[in-house]
Amino acid sequence: MTNEEQPTTNNILSATGLSKSFGGLRAVNEAKIYVKKGTITGLIGPNGAGKTTLFNLLSNFIRPDKGEVIFDGEPIHHLQPYQIALQGCVRTFQVARALSRLTVLENMLLATQKQTGENFIQLWFQRGQVRQEERENKERAMEILESVGLAAKAQDYAGALSGGQRKLLEMARALMTRPKLILLDEPAAGVNPTLIGQICEHIMNWNKQGISFLIIEHNMDVIMSLCNHVWVLAEGTNLADGTPEEIQTNPEVLEAYLGE
Ligand SMILES: Nc1ncnc2c1ncn2[C@@H]1O[C@H](COP(=O)(O)OP(=O)(O)O)[C@@H](O)[C@H]1O
Ligand SMILES: [Mg+2]
Repeated sequence: MTNEEQPTTNNILSATGLSKSFGGLRAVNEAKIYVKKGTITGLIGPNGAGKTTLFNLLSNFIRPDKGEVIFDGEPIHHLQPYQIALQGCVRTFQVARALSRLTVLENMLLATQKQTGENFIQLWFQRGQVRQEERENKERAMEILESVGLAAKAQDYAGALSGGQRKLLEMARALMTRPKLILLDEPAAGVNPTLIGQICEHIMNWNKQGISFLIIEHNMDVIMSLCNHVWVLAEGTNLADGTPEEIQTNPEVLEAYLGE
Protein backbone atom coordinates (compact mmCIF):
# COMPACT_ATOMS: atom_id res chain seq x y z
CA MET A 1 0.00 0.00 0.00
CA THR A 2 1.55 3.27 -1.07
CA ASN A 3 0.19 6.68 -1.92
CA GLU A 4 3.08 7.39 -4.22
CA GLU A 5 3.48 10.73 -5.92
CA GLN A 6 2.95 10.46 -9.64
CA PRO A 7 5.62 11.68 -12.06
CA THR A 8 4.66 15.27 -12.86
CA THR A 9 6.41 18.48 -13.77
CA ASN A 10 6.22 19.26 -10.06
CA ASN A 11 8.99 16.75 -9.48
CA ILE A 12 12.60 17.89 -9.36
CA LEU A 13 13.56 14.19 -9.52
CA SER A 14 11.68 11.17 -10.87
CA ALA A 15 13.35 7.77 -11.00
CA THR A 16 11.55 4.65 -12.19
CA GLY A 17 12.38 1.00 -12.77
CA LEU A 18 15.88 1.29 -11.29
CA SER A 19 17.69 -2.03 -10.85
CA LYS A 20 21.23 -3.01 -9.93
CA SER A 21 22.70 -6.43 -9.15
CA PHE A 22 26.11 -7.13 -7.64
CA GLY A 23 26.86 -10.68 -8.73
CA GLY A 24 23.82 -12.65 -7.59
CA LEU A 25 22.65 -9.97 -5.15
CA ARG A 26 19.81 -7.72 -6.27
CA ALA A 27 20.78 -4.62 -4.30
CA VAL A 28 18.10 -2.46 -5.99
CA ASN A 29 15.17 -4.09 -7.77
CA GLU A 30 12.70 -2.08 -9.89
CA ALA A 31 12.80 0.81 -7.43
CA LYS A 32 11.20 4.19 -7.98
CA ILE A 33 11.35 7.48 -6.16
CA TYR A 34 9.90 10.94 -6.76
CA VAL A 35 11.04 14.16 -5.12
CA LYS A 36 8.63 17.08 -5.39
CA LYS A 37 10.17 20.49 -6.09
CA GLY A 38 10.83 22.48 -2.94
CA THR A 39 10.42 19.54 -0.55
CA ILE A 40 12.64 17.77 1.92
CA THR A 41 12.04 14.11 1.08
CA GLY A 42 13.28 11.21 3.19
CA LEU A 43 14.57 7.78 2.18
CA ILE A 44 14.64 5.21 4.97
CA GLY A 45 14.97 1.45 5.32
CA PRO A 46 16.85 -1.20 7.29
CA ASN A 47 20.62 -1.62 6.89
CA GLY A 48 21.46 -3.17 3.54
CA ALA A 49 18.09 -2.14 2.03
CA GLY A 50 19.86 -0.57 -0.96
CA LYS A 51 19.52 3.11 -0.04
CA THR A 52 23.13 4.12 -0.75
CA THR A 53 23.11 2.03 -3.94
CA LEU A 54 19.96 3.89 -5.03
CA PHE A 55 21.80 7.21 -4.47
CA ASN A 56 24.69 5.87 -6.53
CA LEU A 57 22.26 5.00 -9.34
CA LEU A 58 20.50 8.39 -9.18
CA SER A 59 23.81 10.24 -9.51
CA ASN A 60 25.30 7.63 -11.91
CA PHE A 61 28.27 6.86 -9.65
CA ILE A 62 27.15 3.31 -10.40
CA ARG A 63 25.50 2.59 -13.75
CA PRO A 64 22.06 1.04 -13.33
CA ASP A 65 21.31 -2.29 -15.06
CA LYS A 66 18.09 -0.59 -16.07
CA GLY A 67 15.87 2.34 -15.18
CA GLU A 68 15.25 5.99 -15.93
CA VAL A 69 16.17 9.12 -13.99
CA ILE A 70 14.61 12.49 -14.85
CA PHE A 71 16.08 15.56 -13.15
CA ASP A 72 14.34 18.91 -13.58
CA GLY A 73 12.53 17.64 -16.67
CA GLU A 74 15.62 16.16 -18.41
CA PRO A 75 16.86 12.56 -18.52
CA ILE A 76 20.23 12.36 -16.73
CA HIS A 77 21.02 8.64 -16.53
CA HIS A 78 23.39 8.93 -19.53
CA LEU A 79 25.41 11.77 -17.93
CA GLN A 80 28.65 11.54 -15.94
CA PRO A 81 28.37 12.32 -12.19
CA TYR A 82 30.16 15.67 -12.61
CA GLN A 83 27.76 16.63 -15.41
CA ILE A 84 24.80 15.73 -13.20
CA ALA A 85 26.29 17.94 -10.46
CA LEU A 86 26.66 20.81 -12.93
CA GLN A 87 22.96 20.41 -13.88
CA GLY A 88 22.17 21.09 -10.22
CA CYS A 89 21.89 17.65 -8.62
CA VAL A 90 24.69 17.11 -6.08
CA ARG A 91 25.22 14.46 -3.44
CA THR A 92 27.18 13.84 -0.29
CA PHE A 93 28.58 10.52 0.90
CA GLN A 94 27.78 8.32 3.91
CA VAL A 95 31.47 8.57 4.84
CA ALA A 96 32.40 12.21 4.25
CA ARG A 97 34.92 12.54 1.45
CA ALA A 98 36.70 15.74 2.45
CA LEU A 99 40.31 15.67 1.33
CA SER A 100 42.13 15.78 4.64
CA ARG A 101 45.44 17.15 3.30
CA LEU A 102 43.77 20.15 1.72
CA THR A 103 42.50 23.09 3.72
CA VAL A 104 38.80 23.61 4.34
CA LEU A 105 38.80 26.48 1.83
CA GLU A 106 40.64 24.42 -0.80
CA ASN A 107 38.03 21.67 -0.39
CA MET A 108 35.33 24.25 -1.08
CA LEU A 109 37.07 25.61 -4.18
CA LEU A 110 37.50 22.10 -5.63
CA ALA A 111 33.72 21.88 -5.97
CA THR A 112 33.64 24.62 -8.61
CA GLN A 113 34.57 22.47 -11.56
CA LYS A 114 33.63 24.34 -14.69
CA GLN A 115 36.39 26.91 -14.29
CA THR A 116 37.91 28.69 -17.25
CA GLY A 117 41.33 28.01 -15.73
CA GLU A 118 41.03 24.29 -16.42
CA ASN A 119 41.67 24.86 -20.10
CA PHE A 120 45.28 25.93 -20.70
CA ILE A 121 44.64 28.01 -23.83
CA GLN A 122 41.76 29.81 -22.20
CA LEU A 123 43.90 30.30 -19.13
CA TRP A 124 46.55 32.01 -21.27
CA PHE A 125 44.22 34.39 -23.09
CA GLN A 126 41.72 35.07 -20.33
CA ARG A 127 43.89 35.53 -17.26
CA GLY A 128 41.83 38.48 -16.10
CA GLN A 129 38.60 36.52 -16.26
CA VAL A 130 40.18 33.55 -14.44
CA ARG A 131 41.33 35.79 -11.60
CA GLN A 132 37.87 37.35 -11.41
CA GLU A 133 36.26 33.86 -11.26
CA GLU A 134 38.71 32.75 -8.57
CA ARG A 135 37.94 35.84 -6.52
CA GLU A 136 34.19 35.27 -6.81
CA ASN A 137 34.49 31.57 -5.93
CA LYS A 138 36.58 32.41 -2.90
CA GLU A 139 34.08 35.02 -1.74
CA ARG A 140 31.21 32.58 -2.20
CA ALA A 141 33.15 29.85 -0.37
CA MET A 142 33.84 32.14 2.58
CA GLU A 143 30.17 33.27 2.72
CA ILE A 144 28.99 29.65 2.85
CA LEU A 145 31.64 28.68 5.43
CA GLU A 146 30.53 31.68 7.49
CA SER A 147 26.90 30.53 7.34
CA VAL A 148 27.77 27.06 8.69
CA GLY A 149 30.18 28.37 11.32
CA LEU A 150 33.34 27.01 9.68
CA ALA A 151 34.85 30.32 8.52
CA ALA A 152 37.39 30.34 11.36
CA LYS A 153 38.61 26.93 10.13
CA ALA A 154 39.04 27.99 6.48
CA GLN A 155 42.84 27.66 6.58
CA ASP A 156 42.90 24.49 8.72
CA TYR A 157 43.43 21.09 7.14
CA ALA A 158 40.11 19.29 6.60
CA GLY A 159 41.72 16.31 8.35
CA ALA A 160 41.72 18.28 11.60
CA LEU A 161 37.91 18.65 11.61
CA SER A 162 35.62 16.50 13.76
CA GLY A 163 33.36 13.96 12.04
CA GLY A 164 30.39 16.29 12.36
CA GLN A 165 32.31 19.28 11.02
CA ARG A 166 33.41 17.18 8.06
CA LYS A 167 29.74 16.41 7.32
CA LEU A 168 29.04 20.15 7.46
CA LEU A 169 31.96 20.80 5.10
CA GLU A 170 30.52 18.26 2.64
CA MET A 171 27.18 20.06 2.66
CA ALA A 172 28.85 23.45 2.38
CA ARG A 173 30.85 22.15 -0.58
CA ALA A 174 27.67 20.87 -2.24
CA LEU A 175 26.28 24.42 -2.08
CA MET A 176 29.18 25.85 -4.10
CA THR A 177 27.63 24.76 -7.42
CA ARG A 178 24.26 26.44 -6.67
CA PRO A 179 22.34 23.14 -6.69
CA LYS A 180 18.59 22.66 -7.11
CA LEU A 181 18.61 19.30 -5.32
CA ILE A 182 21.02 17.92 -2.72
CA LEU A 183 21.14 14.20 -1.92
CA LEU A 184 22.40 13.66 1.64
CA ASP A 185 23.51 10.17 2.71
CA GLU A 186 23.10 9.92 6.49
CA PRO A 187 23.99 13.53 7.44
CA ALA A 188 23.46 12.81 11.16
CA ALA A 189 25.41 9.53 11.42
CA GLY A 190 28.26 9.78 13.92
CA VAL A 191 27.45 13.42 14.69
CA ASN A 192 26.93 14.70 18.24
CA PRO A 193 23.37 15.81 19.15
CA THR A 194 24.19 19.54 19.28
CA LEU A 195 25.68 19.48 15.80
CA ILE A 196 22.75 17.35 14.53
CA GLY A 197 20.43 20.16 15.61
CA GLN A 198 22.57 22.71 13.76
CA ILE A 199 22.72 20.55 10.62
CA CYS A 200 18.90 20.26 10.63
CA GLU A 201 18.56 24.05 10.96
CA HIS A 202 20.93 24.61 8.03
CA ILE A 203 18.97 22.13 5.91
CA MET A 204 15.70 23.95 6.74
CA ASN A 205 17.26 27.32 5.89
CA TRP A 206 18.67 26.11 2.56
CA ASN A 207 15.30 24.54 1.80
CA LYS A 208 13.60 27.93 2.46
CA GLN A 209 16.01 29.41 -0.09
CA GLY A 210 14.57 27.02 -2.69
CA ILE A 211 16.85 23.97 -2.55
CA SER A 212 15.12 20.57 -2.52
CA PHE A 213 16.57 17.68 -0.51
CA LEU A 214 16.52 13.90 -0.61
CA ILE A 215 17.87 12.56 2.69
CA ILE A 216 18.84 9.05 3.72
CA GLU A 217 18.84 8.91 7.51
CA HIS A 218 18.56 6.36 10.31
CA ASN A 219 17.84 8.99 12.96
CA MET A 220 14.02 9.04 12.93
CA ASP A 221 13.85 12.33 14.86
CA VAL A 222 15.73 13.96 11.99
CA ILE A 223 13.43 12.36 9.38
CA MET A 224 10.27 13.26 11.32
CA SER A 225 11.27 16.86 11.96
CA LEU A 226 12.58 17.64 8.46
CA CYS A 227 10.65 15.63 5.86
CA ASN A 228 7.48 16.44 3.97
CA HIS A 229 7.36 12.97 2.45
CA VAL A 230 9.18 9.69 3.17
CA TRP A 231 10.02 6.70 0.97
CA VAL A 232 10.77 3.30 2.49
CA LEU A 233 13.06 0.80 0.82
CA ALA A 234 13.46 -2.81 2.00
CA GLU A 235 15.50 -5.52 0.31
CA GLY A 236 16.01 -3.30 -2.71
CA THR A 237 12.34 -2.62 -3.42
CA ASN A 238 9.76 0.03 -2.49
CA LEU A 239 7.91 -0.89 0.67
CA ALA A 240 5.87 2.27 1.26
CA ASP A 241 5.78 6.04 0.93
CA GLY A 242 3.78 8.73 2.68
CA THR A 243 3.90 11.51 5.23
CA PRO A 244 6.21 10.95 8.23
CA GLU A 245 3.12 10.26 10.37
CA GLU A 246 1.77 7.66 7.93
CA ILE A 247 5.16 5.94 7.71
CA GLN A 248 5.65 5.93 11.48
CA THR A 249 2.42 3.99 12.02
CA ASN A 250 2.66 1.69 8.96
CA PRO A 251 2.72 -1.93 10.25
CA GLU A 252 4.73 -3.19 7.22
CA VAL A 253 7.40 -0.58 7.85
CA LEU A 254 7.60 -1.42 11.55
CA GLU A 255 7.89 -5.10 10.68
CA ALA A 256 10.73 -4.44 8.21
CA TYR A 257 12.71 -2.76 10.99
CA LEU A 258 12.08 -5.47 13.60
CA GLY A 259 14.78 -7.78 12.27
CA GLU A 260 17.47 -5.06 12.55
N1 LIG B 1 29.81 -2.22 -4.67
C1 LIG B 1 29.15 -3.28 -4.14
N2 LIG B 1 29.50 -4.54 -4.45
C2 LIG B 1 28.83 -5.59 -3.95
N3 LIG B 1 27.77 -5.48 -3.12
C3 LIG B 1 27.38 -4.25 -2.76
C4 LIG B 1 28.05 -3.07 -3.26
N4 LIG B 1 27.43 -1.98 -2.74
C5 LIG B 1 26.43 -2.45 -1.96
N5 LIG B 1 26.39 -3.79 -1.97
C6 LIG B 1 25.40 -4.64 -1.28
O1 LIG B 1 24.13 -4.19 -1.68
C7 LIG B 1 23.21 -4.19 -0.59
C8 LIG B 1 22.68 -2.80 -0.36
O2 LIG B 1 23.72 -1.99 0.18
P1 LIG B 1 23.54 -0.44 0.45
O3 LIG B 1 22.99 0.20 -0.77
O4 LIG B 1 24.83 0.08 0.97
O5 LIG B 1 22.43 -0.45 1.61
P2 LIG B 1 22.00 0.70 2.65
O6 LIG B 1 22.64 1.98 2.24
O7 LIG B 1 20.50 0.73 2.57
O8 LIG B 1 22.46 0.23 4.00
C9 LIG B 1 23.98 -4.74 0.60
O9 LIG B 1 23.72 -6.13 0.71
C10 LIG B 1 25.43 -4.48 0.24
O10 LIG B 1 26.29 -5.41 0.85
MG1 LIG C 1 23.96 3.31 3.22
